[in-house]
Amino acid sequence: MRDKITVMISEKEINKRVREIAKQISHDYAKKEIRLICILKGSIFYTCELAKRLTIPVTLDFMKVSSYGSGTESKGTIEIQKDLDESIEGLDVIVVEDIIDSGNTLSHLIPLLKERKPASIGITTLLDKPSRREAEVDVDYVGFEIEDRFVVGYGLDYDQSYRDLPYIGEIRLDE
Ligand code: IMP
Ligand code: MG
Repeated sequence: MRDKITVMISEKEINKRVREIAKQISHDYAKKEIRLICILKGSIFYTCELAKRLTIPVTLDFMKVSSYGSGTESKGTIEIQKDLDESIEGLDVIVVEDIIDSGNTLSHLIPLLKERKPASIGITTLLDKPSRREAEVDVDYVGFEIEDRFVVGYGLDYDQSYRDLPYIGEIRLDE
């Protein structure tokens, strides 16, 4: 059976919010150049849409990490499945996430990136589920705070599907 998906945040609403965040970042980092770090795969859509709208110079790099957080006992570590191609030493970096849930991924990733001595490190996430937080994460730019629901689309997947939806949808798996 097809999973039932209802629109939670429309494409239009996302575009509007991404534009606002891009404006804010362009203002906060005026006269600087930033390196966006896209956390694969979920963040690709948000990274592209954000990058297009920034009015300051931008470069991109990509990283893939897996967290042992969800549903297991061991929350002590993350595994880097694909590392950045380039050094971030001395750069103003912004990590781009699709969604922050438990916070376990970023609470491990950020200290690891700090060891590489960037000039600064910021975080933006399209979605935030604060009620699910287990580990503290200091997020600078949040697109939307959402309730504890499983969402797909705009890069987010359920079992690798639905990343292509142009909106954020809530998926009901129990029907
Ligand atoms: P956490 O903050 O370490 O728990 O991990 C966040 C990651 O969990 C995200 O980057 C997503 O890959 C995944 N995730 C959490 N909630 C959802 C959801 O509602 N839909 C799809 N993926 C999710
Ligand atoms: Mg992810």
